[in-house]
Amino acid sequence: MFKFAALAALVSIIPLINAQSPIYGQCGGINWTGPKTCVAGTTCTYLNDYYSQCLPGSSSTPASSTKPPVSSTTAKPVSSSTKPVSTSTMPGGSPTTSSAPASTPTVAAGNPFSGYTIQINPVYQAEVVAALPAISDAATKASAAKVENIPTFFWLDAVARIPTLDTYMAAAAAAGGKRLVQIVIYDLPNRDCHAKASNGEFTIANNGAALYKTAYIDAIVAIIKKYPSVRVVAVIEPDSLANLVTNLSDPNCAAAQSVYLSSVTYAMQQLTTVGVVQYLDAGHAGWLGWPANLTPAAQLFASLYQSAGKPAGVRGLATNVANYNALVAASPDPITQGNPNYDEIHYINALSPALQASGFPDHFIVDQSRSGQQNLRQQWGDWCNIKGAGFGTRPTLNTGSALIDSIVWVKPGGESDGTSNTSAARYDSTCSLPDATVPAPEAGTWFQAFFQTLVTAANPPL
Ligand code: BGC
Repeated sequence: MFKFAALAALVSIIPLINAQSPIYGQCGGINWTGPKTCVAGTTCTYLNDYYSQCLPGSSSTPASSTKPPVSSTTAKPVSSSTKPVSTSTMPGGSPTTSSAPASTPTVAAGNPFSGYTIQINPVYQAEVVAALPAISDAATKASAAKVENIPTFFWLDAVARIPTLDTYMAAAAAAGGKRLVQIVIYDLPNRDCHAKASNGEFTIANNGAALYKTAYIDAIVAIIKKYPSVRVVAVIEPDSLANLVTNLSDPNCAAAQSVYLSSVTYAMQQLTTVGVVQYLDAGHAGWLGWPANLTPAAQLFASLYQSAGKPAGVRGLATNVANYNALVAASPDPITQGNPNYDEIHYINALSPALQASGFPDHFIVDQSRSGQQNLRQQWGDWCNIKGAGFGTRPTLNTGSALIDSIVWVKPGGESDGTSNTSAARYDSTCSLPDATVPAPEAGTWFQAFFQTLVTAANPPL
């Protein structure tokens, strides 16, 4: 009896030992078959139906990856953990051209990146570290390890991510000097109205407009306010305003229009109160860069900005977020035929005068995270886990254009664009087109095979 009990105890321990996800590792979600418990000091936290993640801190209640009640109007308690993360300086940054960090939350003038060191996104760093052991080729592994210290943006794609922002900001403040934290505001009600892969946690039908303000934006603002020495740069709501320029014939986007506008207005105004430098997402050359779309796009950005009272935090626009276009293409990709703005620099140069005419600040950042290889797509509208994509130009202030504040990596390369599982609720057929890498996991979750290709196809090489 004793022997049996001891054996049973051992058997019940073994899977626990072998089945713990690391910090920021996945620990649950629909179709998730990996470990469902987390290493000590972290808690399995529900982010959405498809993704639960081991986040820092231990909860007073047992770890749970089940969905929290949606009726809550307050954010979850924030973590006060100050886990150190490694840091990196930004190549090409000019040393000290901007003023010292403000002790009061005023918005910096000029290029917000100048003179600042970007605090490394701890979530992405952990994902990359966890990806290394599975890479068998030594040279590829060594190249992959370098990605760990490249600054990417931290996507606040669910309320449950917000406590990690506190950890991230605390680490930046503790590091001292001029530190900059990069975030993406990405939780609009009825998110991703013209696609399915990134539909979010809030819906207009379920009080999403109010929850976006109180449970999401207010909670983020409260954390940022705690760290006045840390500069924050934010990309605001990828795809949302671009969808309002070109996709209002889609009933999902038409239904979301007024809530998108009021929600983005609230975000711009509230983030300005804590000094966040903001770039509204402006799609990419193959979307708003078509000549017929330039003026309507500029007018939408400008009218929203002006009706919001010209929030001082709004610095300009972010382009190519999570897309695959080159900043400067060696030659036009055949799929761009018919559009003179065949790359991001042509798009930016064409949009700038329209912005000026409309009264919107014409400064830009451009995502080049996965733009290293070109001429990969069958159609310009393809956006999902593009086969053969490689990491692109590293973040730098040497942008080649006075309009562009910085080349950035907004998309953390290796996180999926969307699932190719045809039976998934968020399945978007774009994710199983011939130029998409399959099988692909849910949007935002780690896609090891895709990451390894990004590494080996990196241009310039890692
Ligand atoms: C996903 C987000 C994720 C982001 C960055 C988006 O496509 O919907 O959940 O955070 O990509 O990987």
